[in-house]
Amino acid sequence: MSAAPAGPVVSVRDLRIHFPAGRGETVKAVDGVSFDVQPGESFGVIGESGSGKSTLGRALVSLLAPTSGTVRHDGRDLAALPASEFRRQRRSYQIVFQDPNAALDPRMTILQSVREPLDIAGEGDAASRGRAALQALDHVGLAAEHAARYPHELSGGQKQRVNIARALTMTPRLIVCDEAVAALDVSIRAEILNLLTALQRELKLAYVFITHDLGIVAHVSQRVAVMYLGQFVEMAPVEMLLARPLHPYTEALLWAQPVAVPASLRPPGRRVLQGEIPSPISPPSGCRFRTRCPHAADRCAADVPAWREAEPGRWVACHYAGAVTGTTPLLEETSHA
Ligand SMILES: Nc1ncnc2c1ncn2[C@@H]1O[C@H](COP(=O)(O)OP(=O)(O)OP(=O)(O)O)[C@@H](O)[C@H]1O
Ligand code: SF4
Ligand SMILES: [Mg+2]
Repeated sequence: MSAAPAGPVVSVRDLRIHFPAGRGETVKAVDGVSFDVQPGESFGVIGESGSGKSTLGRALVSLLAPTSGTVRHDGRDLAALPASEFRRQRRSYQIVFQDPNAALDPRMTILQSVREPLDIAGEGDAASRGRAALQALDHVGLAAEHAARYPHELSGGQKQRVNIARALTMTPRLIVCDEAVAALDVSIRAEILNLLTALQRELKLAYVFITHDLGIVAHVSQRVAVMYLGQFVEMAPVEMLLARPLHPYTEALLWAQPVAVPASLRPPGRRVLQGEIPSPISPPSGCRFRTRCPHAADRCAADVPAWREAEPGRWVACHYAGAVTGTTPLLEETSHA
């Protein structure tokens, strides 16, 4: 096997993904996002329903093409490759969805399902592909006896293990987990998260963990981005973000998640997030969070807050970052912009 490439596994720059919405309108599902994920890193993406997480996740594995901006995989623009090479290279970047049934054909045995990506790739002979599929099942903790069963004969957690095994057969560099444990019972959820963490260590996988649940991010990710209405509003190492949010939206999410922040650590009188996320067809002017932000000032309607590195490794988009969350002195917008 050739040496792993140096540099980010995936590098996203000013990514926009817009969908036509009829009547000449456009859904700005992802609207100017930039970040890198390093080899072996687990990167969390959190945000409310409709913030653009799944759209971003699909773009990370080239299931959606950018409207503008770039997604580079190990330094390469896969979209620029000839079709057959694009398909071959894309296999290194896999996605696991929330619905354990989504990628499993009910008419196929588990072995056939796990072998399917290898069959499509056409590598080796049928016997070697079968062995590789059994090995992948073993890797995710499923015994050989499961291989002959059909999806309806497995539990949700077992089916999600099968989906992870399918991804592993492609020896991926990155797996995007889009709410991959959200449909599972709490006890099973922990098992799958522990499995993913063990695989990350063993196989040096990178993950992008998309979730509503800050508790999950705290459990499995090293860095996290907070997404709101198609954009990142904050990005930081997980412990820092949990201990000291700089953006009012992050703070509101934290207070809304009792698991992530014990009541004893929450300042009294903090407000829980009010209202609904606005439409991504016509987002608010200036700061997109201003219609729900308890700290919004006149400037917030007029000026778009810059996406800036307010402290080393900590990115935020708020004119009053830090000061309004009461966690730190005002981090001047000009200081690191
Ligand atoms: N193919 C599409 N055509 C039009 N609009 C779309 C399409 N896919 C997503 N959208 C819209 O883009 C926005 C972001 O959707 P997305 O599914 O990425 O959000 P999400 O953060 O994953 O939400 P959830 O937490 O509910 O899964 C939503 O307003 C959604 O309705
Ligand atoms: S820029 Fe203004 S409206 Fe936006 S999060 Fe900061 S204080 Fe709130
Ligand atoms: Mg989603």
